[in-house]
Amino acid sequence: MSSGFFRSLVREAARRYPPKDRYARHFASGKLGRDPVFRHLLEHGLLAGEPCILDIGCGQGNLAALLAAARARHASGDWPADWPAPPAPREFRGIDLLARDVARAQSALGAQARFTCGDMREADFGEADAIVILDVLHYVDRDAQDDVLRRVRGALGAGGLLLLRIGAKSGSLRFRYTEWVDRIVMRLRGHRLTRLHGRATDEWARALEALGFRVEARPMSAGTGFANVLLVARLAGPCASRGELAA
Ligand SMILES: C[S@@+](CC[C@H](N)C(=O)[O-])C[C@H]1O[C@@H](n2cnc3c(N)ncnc32)[C@H](O)[C@@H]1O
Repeated sequence: MSSGFFRSLVREAARRYPPKDRYARHFASGKLGRDPVFRHLLEHGLLAGEPCILDIGCGQGNLAALLAAARARHASGDWPADWPAPPAPREFRGIDLLARDVARAQSALGAQARFTCGDMREADFGEADAIVILDVLHYVDRDAQDDVLRRVRGALGAGGLLLLRIGAKSGSLRFRYTEWVDRIVMRLRGHRLTRLHGRATDEWARALEALGFRVEARPMSAGTGFANVLLVARLAGPCASRGELAA
């Protein structure tokens, strides 16, 4: 499949942001085009068939914009034969700390998604079939991370899916570079960061397995200098009722 198709999809996603918001368009185009996780999600149908999706730390809603552009292309009959149909969730929700990004996300998606401003440490996750957390958890400390994961588990139903992208902590130059770029980008976006709280891939996987997830780690840095890994975590078999583990 030509990468020209994906590039045109990214352009369409970026055009969902108002023309006067050149920053949002530019950012969407750069992020969606360069970060391999977005193409991977579509190409491998990771969110396909999930009726309710929650994006925690959604930023300006890049993922939702890409999925909306993908649905439109698919509906027009222009879709790679070797890709699964794109996700067509009944409900897409996003939560982010920054009011400005939440407003951007809502302006790009209109009625197709619902974004709220909130801190994941306190926000109500409601119920979801799939939860996406891309490059967000390391901004809060370990206790808060564990609590968020417990509440994520409580929000998911039987067979629920968590897509958690992390920077795999290690002594490597790649990981140091990942953190360095992260700090710069977050400062530019108006965050005041103190410490970052990374963990090694195995540590994240163990925390998820202890909550009942079956975990697969996929390297997710191709074409970048980062140390990113996507954890595809699925609840195995029948699980406790929603909310049981949220307390
Ligand atoms: C590196 S960006 C990733 C954005 C988006 N997930 C993506 O991949 O395009 C991290 C996002 O997490 C958000 N964030 C950081 N701490 C948060 C918190 N405690 N609760 C909710 N969102 C948070 C930031 O505002 C920012 O939009």
